[in-house]
Amino acid sequence: MKTEFLTMENLGKAIDALRQGEIVAFPTETVYGLGADATNTRACQKIFEAKGRPADNPLIIHVLDLSGLERLIRGPLPETARILAETFWPGPVTVVLPANDTIPLAVRGGMPTVAIRVPSDKIARSLIEGLGRPIAAPSANRSGRPSPTRALDVWHDLRGQIPYIIDGGESLVGLESTIVDCSLDEPVLLRPGFVGLETLESVLKRKVLLPGANTPHKAPGMKYTHYAPHAPVIWINMKEDHLIEEALRKLDHEYHRNIALLAPLKWQNYCAKFFLALGDNVETVAHGLFSGFRELDRHNPDAIVVIWDENDSGVGLAIANRLGKASLKQFGRVRQVRE
Ligand code: TXA
Ligand code: MG
Repeated sequence: MKTEFLTMENLGKAIDALRQGEIVAFPTETVYGLGADATNTRACQKIFEAKGRPADNPLIIHVLDLSGLERLIRGPLPETARILAETFWPGPVTVVLPANDTIPLAVRGGMPTVAIRVPSDKIARSLIEGLGRPIAAPSANRSGRPSPTRALDVWHDLRGQIPYIIDGGESLVGLESTIVDCSLDEPVLLRPGFVGLETLESVLKRKVLLPGANTPHKAPGMKYTHYAPHAPVIWINMKEDHLIEEALRKLDHEYHRNIALLAPLKWQNYCAKFFLALGDNVETVAHGLFSGFRELDRHNPDAIVVIWDENDSGVGLAIANRLGKASLKQFGRVRQVRE
């Protein structure tokens, strides 16, 4: 199949393709999505096939507004979901609620719930509006790879498998949406994202739980290996410069000087073979992490080393979550074991 790039100017082709049960990659403010008519099981199956995605991993459903959500859920709208929607939509927050049967079970990965979000990106909204139906869209990467933040990233993963990629420039946020399960009594943060835990708690005026031994909730997708470029990722999660230098020296030796470094600018002159600045505040790090993985991977390094001193405020929790899952090895505070 030939894969064609489209822009805002020729969205009609993409909308026609969606109507005919095809899949289309498009930009959102978080990352690029791979979309299909969410009410069409066969069309959504093409998403699973193109991504190599396990069938038990449900898709996020994109709608235009709160009334779009109300058409997809069973029972009354819980207060938590209403507050999140009113505060953050359109924007990078996804809510999980009990599903009615509008979205086929296979699209929901067999779950009794459905994950819904309202994107702010203009192209994403035009597609939903043009199709006149909700759009199911996971991130538009091959399963296990970093989420794409540019049209070209999608091309590298999915060329030849999808008819269209809509180019809307770089994604604003660079990491996927915050997912909050609102289906039971207490809200649970299933996946951290741009909107941080403390912000959620302050607008909801209540505690938001993290998935753990005491909560039944989980995002099925979070158990799979994730976000990894081809080169192994090594995360130096440390504060003190001398400890970081020591770790870098060790790695440089271990990987015969063929390392790529994704780090704050001050490490630029360290002797890594390839360097890319990661910025030094949480927003720029979030924005540059996945694109940095993909950029550095092109040089075929033996390892991609990331220097990021963990910080749980705002989107910091999401960065730590993604790095914890992407990295093969960690120096300093060890965050999370790869499942
Ligand atoms: O920012 C985003 O959310 C992007 C853009 C394209 O919208 N989408 C995205 O989708 O990141 P995806 O499929 O890569 O990640 C969706 C996550 C998976 O971990 C999946 O298991 C979880 O959401 N999920 C979907 N439906 C769920 C449900 N009913 N209950 C719990 N988790 C769910
Ligand atoms: Mg994904």
